[in-house]
Amino acid sequence: MRLRKELGLVIAFDMEDANLAANFAKDLRGAKGNFAIKIGRTLEMQTGKGIIAKIKEFSDLPVIYDGEIADIPYISKKIAKNAYDAGADAVIVHGFVGSDVLNEIGDLGQGDVIAVVEMTHPGSDEYIQQISEKIAEMVEEIGVDGVVLPATRPERVKKLVKIVKKAYVISPEIKAQGANPGNAILNGADYEVVGRAIYEADNPKRAAEEIYKEAIGRCH
Ligand code: C5P
Repeated sequence: MRLRKELGLVIAFDMEDANLAANFAKDLRGAKGNFAIKIGRTLEMQTGKGIIAKIKEFSDLPVIYDGEIADIPYISKKIAKNAYDAGADAVIVHGFVGSDVLNEIGDLGQGDVIAVVEMTHPGSDEYIQQISEKIAEMVEEIGVDGVVLPATRPERVKKLVKIVKKAYVISPEIKAQGANPGNAILNGADYEVVGRAIYEADNPKRAAEEIYKEAIGRCH
């Protein structure tokens, strides 16, 4: 199931309790909104790739494997193949590693390739931000399916979406990292990524629906 280029929320599953994750995936069935699930390394490390299959079994939402893959083409491809074979609809790969890595994974033809173009933590100023426009040009030329841009820097999202025109844009850093729901979408992102503010809430399904409504509501 490919992600569509339309407004929505990606829920980061970074919790370290696999049963909690599976129950939340089940609970999300029928949630009001356009959602996708992103499985991060913190969750995957608890059970291995089996958690991808488990979440897919319980959920009808697209599942992204966020391994932030950044290795040589041979290894990156193996990691991506393992994730796709387990049921992932998309994988996240770093753009800075170069076009050969992205092409190798794209050539598998098993699902979406999402490239990280820019990050937001202070250290990202030291290196990645200085080359992110070049990364954006490269991923646009290759034709990846999606890109990751930082929600906490709306002016960067605005600038980079002018370079990356075809791919859908997913933007993390909402709530827990400071950005408000809707900020990134208003600047050109398609999906906002929210983790802790949802899965640590007393009622995670309700929190997902509320944050979705808040983000999308600001865009009409
Ligand atoms: O809990 P929180 O909402 O901060 O989660 C943000 C999610 O987005 C995490 O899964 C994190 O790995 C991911 N992410 C990020 N910043 C990036 C790339 C990915 O926060 N630049």
